[in-house]
Amino acid sequence: MPDDILKDIESEIIDSKESAEAFRVKYLGRKSGKITGMLKRIPEAPPKERRELGRRINELKKRAEERLASFEAHLHKPDATGPQTGIDLTLPGRFPAPPGSIHPLTHTLNEIARVFEGFGFSIATGPEIETEWHNFTALNFPSNHPARDMQDTFYLEPDRVLLRTHTSPVQIRTLLAEQPPVRVIVPGRVYRNEAVSYKSYCLFHQVEGLYVDEGVTFADLKQVLRLFVQALFGGDARMRFRPSFFPFTEPSAEVDIWWSDEAVPENGRWLEILGCGMVDPNVFDAVDLDPERWTGYAFGMGIERIAMLRYGIRDIRTFYENDIRFLEQF
Ligand code: PHE
Repeated sequence: MPDDILKDIESEIIDSKESAEAFRVKYLGRKSGKITGMLKRIPEAPPKERRELGRRINELKKRAEERLASFEAHLHKPDATGPQTGIDLTLPGRFPAPPGSIHPLTHTLNEIARVFEGFGFSIATGPEIETEWHNFTALNFPSNHPARDMQDTFYLEPDRVLLRTHTSPVQIRTLLAEQPPVRVIVPGRVYRNEAVSYKSYCLFHQVEGLYVDEGVTFADLKQVLRLFVQALFGGDARMRFRPSFFPFTEPSAEVDIWWSDEAVPENGRWLEILGCGMVDPNVFDAVDLDPERWTGYAFGMGIERIAMLRYGIRDIRTFYENDIRFLEQF
């Protein structure tokens, strides 16, 4: 029995005057203190055991008094060890403290943003929970477009609220909020209900670009993307524009870059890195801008894809596993 009480005495938290007083009453209180009670009951023990029992109970009492005294001592010595907490602030820290590192997606995103900031783009953001109108309707997706389907899109409320499937709805939000000229890039997280594999995940990141002004041409778009590819992949990077289709741009293109595998040259191939095009007049209509006056281009790229190319990462899922052995390489 005294042993159990000793454990209690040692583990009791004494970090304030109140808890010290509660401790005192609980163990040493004159009327109902546990130790006081044990001392009172010594005469009930068999005479042979009384001496030893008394010795042990007195030890408990001493220990309890020591704990109170040590709290009192801290209380009156505020500069030494945490007075109110009983925590010794002078103890050394735990080493080694592993330094954190920047996530490879953040690295890539920062670099992309820095390039476009150099071209005069500023950064805009928008919500990840979007309305169907911003994500699809205002971007000229017909009502029966397959991308709207439950199979691709995570709907939170049927036919109304969803997790954005791309950063393009921020084009709409920006054009509703600001009068052109606008020149923004939009980094952000997007969601698609796709089968998870080494090359697709249910969420990923994009950087959207939008430039709207008078007299913007496809040549401007080509130039800015060429400079971007060279800044990110080097001056000798090979790229090509390939005609494509998006509901919200017309004409539309995709940009591929040539990816050569130094070890296995015959593995070199064109890899798509982004979609782009001239803002469709129907998008200007949706945000009440006059398509006869305003022109613009937009582009959107997946950050995971670009980070995988740059760092030689083969499985997109590694970005999301938080495996320290992966993360500490960056
Ligand atoms: N939003 C398109 C996508 O997710 C990319 C894109 C953006 C294409 C802007 C053209 C213009 O695939």
